[in-house]
Amino acid sequence: MVNYKVADESLAEKGKEALYIAESKMPVTAKVIRERFAKEKPLKGITIAGCLHITKETANLARTLKAGGADVYLCGSNPLSTQDDVAAALVQEDINVFAWHGNTDEEFYWCIRECLKANPNVLIDDGADMIVTAHKEFPELIQNGTIIACQEETTTGVKRFKAMDKQGALKVPLFPVNDARCKNQFDNELGTGQGIVAAIYGMHVLFAGKNVIVAGFGHCSSGMALRARGLGANVIVTEIDPIKALQAKFAGYQVMPISEALPIADIILTATGCKHVILPTKENFDALKDGVILGNLGHFDIEIPTKEIYEYAKEIKPIRQNVEELIFPDGKRIYLLAKGRLANLVLSEGHPAEVMDMSFSLQSLMSEYIVKNKEKLRPGMIDIPSEIDDEVGFLKLQSLGVEIDKLTDEQYKYIHGYEEGT
Ligand SMILES: NC(=O)c1ccc[n+]([C@@H]2O[C@H](COP(=O)([O-])OP(=O)(O)OC[C@H]3O[C@@H](n4cnc5c(N)ncnc54)[C@H](O)[C@@H]3O)[C@@H](O)[C@H]2O)c1
Repeated sequence: MVNYKVADESLAEKGKEALYIAESKMPVTAKVIRERFAKEKPLKGITIAGCLHITKETANLARTLKAGGADVYLCGSNPLSTQDDVAAALVQEDINVFAWHGNTDEEFYWCIRECLKANPNVLIDDGADMIVTAHKEFPELIQNGTIIACQEETTTGVKRFKAMDKQGALKVPLFPVNDARCKNQFDNELGTGQGIVAAIYGMHVLFAGKNVIVAGFGHCSSGMALRARGLGANVIVTEIDPIKALQAKFAGYQVMPISEALPIADIILTATGCKHVILPTKENFDALKDGVILGNLGHFDIEIPTKEIYEYAKEIKPIRQNVEELIFPDGKRIYLLAKGRLANLVLSEGHPAEVMDMSFSLQSLMSEYIVKNKEKLRPGMIDIPSEIDDEVGFLKLQSLGVEIDKLTDEQYKYIHGYEEGT
């Protein structure tokens, strides 16, 4: 029996089309690993709960885990990123889903609890909300060993778990999948980079000739800066880390404090994992230009001070789904994308399936690794084994028909030795 609550089951046929297209772009997750899992059933008897963006790519991860023998429960990791057609299609694939677009905070946590009530053995989180809820409200799942280990998909979640671990509050083995080379160097940089186009598409503006402020020069934001420049924008980077700021400067971007950038910005895009990247002051709000577009691609809706901007506006006009025109007291118009939430996921469909293939191959292989190694795992942060990272890299190359060199024994000895010099 499948347990679920979705917006509209009649959307399943449309969702199936999306799953099919994504499947063809995810040859490693949806073919190579899925076919092996279907034969070997490495996840037999295991329940996996994922708190993830409910997209066609996540759907293909769920199908692969199911092919491996797992019972899969899913809920959304963001109130606005669930694709209702995909959620409906998943129910028909016998995946337990509790997710719909536009749920309230209370409903969001209800969905998480429904997944945790299934007594999952492996948790896959995106932003840490499910695993933190397990610690607070379902401690017995941790104490009695039901939860074997957990995985975290995004930078913000990893930061939260590192803080928990430091304070001795992390009671489960936690694999930060986000930090694998096959994840953040591709999903974050390429996916979020290209995501700026998807986020802003419906605003009918050209990037060319615009002053685009990119807050941060990390994995996501450096990719966003690169793509905005490629589209002809004059990109200005703001940072708090001196090395990242230098990297941006030497990559040819203007670098300045955000307070200096605000008055000249046509488009402001954030992806820092920080709070109040634009400090919520009257001076900052008054400094914004008429017509400026504000978009966030970081995990939470507090990078742009959304709540304070809503309070400051004298009028809020929805101009299309999840885009609002805010009229400030001086009559100035500000365009806020996706209510300050992940604009690439809310206003479009998130990362291309081709790049999610790598992230979700990692999640699939890590689920298998957790089950195989359950006796050895201890609470705390554990690095992704480099052989799994490499395996995903090789499988992806293979799917692209790309071959690479192999070290000879002599080369291996040389790069691992110290004796040969001048
Ligand atoms: N939209 C998506 O689809 C998507 C995908 C992956 C990650 N994310 C999220 O994007 C955010 C960034 O992730 P990342 O992997 O790029 O992290 P990262 O740590 O690689 O980069 C963040 C950068 O922001 C800088 N920064 C921090 N506070 C700042 C501030 N106040 N002003 C300017 N710069 C500041 C940091 O110094 C760092 O260089 C996280 O919240 C992550 O969870 C979103």
